[in-house]
Amino acid sequence: MTSLRTVFITGATGHIGRNVARAFRRAGYRVLGLARDAAKASGLAAEEIVPVLGTLQQPAAWRAAAASAEVLVHAAVDYAGDTMALDRAAVQALLQGAATRGATLIYTSGVWVHGDTAGRVVDETAPLAPIELVAPRVETERLVLGAPALRGIVIRPAIVYGRQGGLTAPWFGEHPVAGDGRNHWPLVHVDDLADAYVRCAERGSAGSAYIVADRSRATVGELRAAARRAAGIGGGPGWIALAEARRTMGPFADALALDQQVSAARAERELGWRARHAGFVAEAPILAAAIRARAEA
Ligand SMILES: NC(=O)c1ccc[n+]([C@@H]2O[C@H](COP(=O)([O-])OP(=O)(O)OC[C@H]3O[C@@H](n4cnc5c(N)ncnc54)[C@H](OP(=O)(O)O)[C@@H]3O)[C@@H](O)[C@H]2O)c1
Repeated sequence: MTSLRTVFITGATGHIGRNVARAFRRAGYRVLGLARDAAKASGLAAEEIVPVLGTLQQPAAWRAAAASAEVLVHAAVDYAGDTMALDRAAVQALLQGAATRGATLIYTSGVWVHGDTAGRVVDETAPLAPIELVAPRVETERLVLGAPALRGIVIRPAIVYGRQGGLTAPWFGEHPVAGDGRNHWPLVHVDDLADAYVRCAERGSAGSAYIVADRSRATVGELRAAARRAAGIGGGPGWIALAEARRTMGPFADALALDQQVSAARAERELGWRARHAGFVAEAPILAAAIRARAEA
C-alpha cells in the first residue's frame, strides 16, 4: 500500500481554494482544508477534504495540520482589515512550518502584480509593476521564492472564471461595469487553474513564479458582451467612468480597469500545463446557466 501525500490548503472554502482542494483530492492526495466555521467544515468533509477549523489570524489552530503536510497551499484572503498584512503574516507562519521539513509552499499571488501591460504581452521575466492594491505582494512573493530549505513556488493566476464566476459574475447581470471596456483581461477557468497547482506540487521548480492564464486576448467589452448575450440581457446599464468608479470603489476601480495581456508559456513548458477549457466567450452560455442555477438554488 502506498502512503498518501498530504496537502494543507488555506482558503479551502473559497473560489480558488475549494477547486484546488478538489483537484488535489482527485489526484489522490490526503487534503486538509482550513475552514472558518462548522457548517463550511462539514461541506469540506462531504467532499473528502479533512476540515481544519481556524482562521489566518490564529496560526496556532492550524500549525499541526500544516506541519503534517508535504505541500502547503495558501489560497485564503481576508478582505476585512489589512488584507495584505494578514496575507504576509500567514505566509510567514506557513514558511516556518514548511522550512523545517523541506516541504513545498505554493503562494497564490495574481497577475495584478504585473500592473498595466499597455498593449504588450508580459511573462514572469518582466519587472513587476504592481497596482497599489497588491503592492505588498511583491515582498511576500520574494519571501516565498527566496526561502531557504524548502520549495517555494508562486502562482500568479489570471482573473478566474467558472462556477460562481468571481469577478466575471457581474457581467451576467444588469450592473454597470468600471472602465470603458477597451482594456484586456487575462482569464483562466478555475478547473484549469486548479490543475496548475497540482502540477506545481509535482514538478514545479523551487524559486519559480508561474503565470497561469489561457491564451485568450479579449477585451472586457468583448467578454462582457458574450456574457450578456448568453444571459439574454439587451441594452441597459453601460460603463462607469474610471474617475467615478474610484470615488465609490477606491483603488479596486484601478484593478478592474487594468489593461493586461500575459503569457503562461513558462507553465506550459515547465509544468506541461495547458488550458483545456475553450475560453470564456465560447463557454459563456454554460457559464450563464451555472450562474442562473446558483442564484435560483
Ligand atoms: N479570483 C480571482 O480572479 C483571483 C485572481 C488572481 C489572484 N487571486 C488571489 O487568489 C486568492 C484567493 O482568491 P479567491 O477568489 O479564491 O477568494 P475567495 O473566493 O474570497 O476565498 C477566500 C477564502 O479565504 C477564506 N478566508 C477569508 N478570511 C479568512 C480568515 N481570516 N481566516 C481564514 N480563512 C479566511 C475564505 O473563507 P470563508 O469561506 O469562510 O469566507 C475563503 O475560503 C486571493 O489572494 C486573491 O487575491 C484571485
